[in-house]
Amino acid sequence: MNLPLAELHVHLEGTAPPALIRRLADRNGLKVPEGVFATPEQFRWVDFLDFLRTYDLAASVIRTPEDYRDVTYEYLVGCAREGAIYVELIASPDHAANVGLSDADHYAGIAAGIDDARRDTGIEARILVTAIRNFGVEAAVEIARRQAEDRHPYVVGFNLAGDEAGYPPAQFREAYEIAAASGLGCTVHAGEHAGAESVREALTLPVTRLSHGVRAIEDPALVAEIAERGIVLEACPTSNVATHVFPSYEEHPLRKLHEAGVKWTLGSDDPPYFGCSIGGEYAVARERFGFEEGELRSITRTAVRASFADDAAKATLL
Ligand code: ADE
Ligand code: ZN
Repeated sequence: MNLPLAELHVHLEGTAPPALIRRLADRNGLKVPEGVFATPEQFRWVDFLDFLRTYDLAASVIRTPEDYRDVTYEYLVGCAREGAIYVELIASPDHAANVGLSDADHYAGIAAGIDDARRDTGIEARILVTAIRNFGVEAAVEIARRQAEDRHPYVVGFNLAGDEAGYPPAQFREAYEIAAASGLGCTVHAGEHAGAESVREALTLPVTRLSHGVRAIEDPALVAEIAERGIVLEACPTSNVATHVFPSYEEHPLRKLHEAGVKWTLGSDDPPYFGCSIGGEYAVARERFGFEEGELRSITRTAVRASFADDAAKATLL
């Protein structure tokens, strides 16, 4: 099937498989514990908070602009091979700062990966910066402020990831107001590891999309509001099953949300953790949720329209 794919939800540090993490660790003279590597392709983790710790550990070996270039390039070239035309990469300045990288070096590395992947495959990509809830409210405000003052041209959006259950969305209002006022597109992880209340609260922030958002299904009035407002969900069904948000694809609400008129797109979230890929998520949508090729083409168009890229970049994709 010659279907163009687009991905609006993938964490850049979460794209590097164990084999690449080991390679970067070797290059940087670092040791990584053996226990977290199930296979060269997949990580081992126990529950969501353990997943976040494993993620932090893997991210801690991505240390230089060249490392970020390589992680970005390898991910995007793999996506292009599956037919992707556009990817939004969620990048965490706090993870980069934890290893001593400035914002400028962090984004320069990612931008080099994007440019090289475009040159070699034609794929386009942009960066969403993310704050991490469990790193605190002040850190989130700081990230938003830094983007408002001095922004790399590939940085087009703002997100909030990490421990949703422990850190509700409204705590981060100031960061969102700064980000939105500075012209960044805004989305927020909500309705993943907390329920409809978290989604309702997230919708009081200046967002046009929700990362996951799928637990809105717990409240039919909320689903109707999301549909009515045209809020776009970044759905990541395999991630949701892997992290036990829903016990199986059969119990995942994607089809019900679709039938309620909610707009949605697809993402792989953290592919080597959850054993998935963007091509795989389109296949899951077709094979497990029964969406046809024409509907999936329209999902790609929804993703491009809902992307935070500038209009000129979008026009080349549509
Ligand atoms: N960070 C990386 N993946 C995440 C997810 N699925 N939810 C929240 N934070 C994350
Ligand atoms: Zn995510």
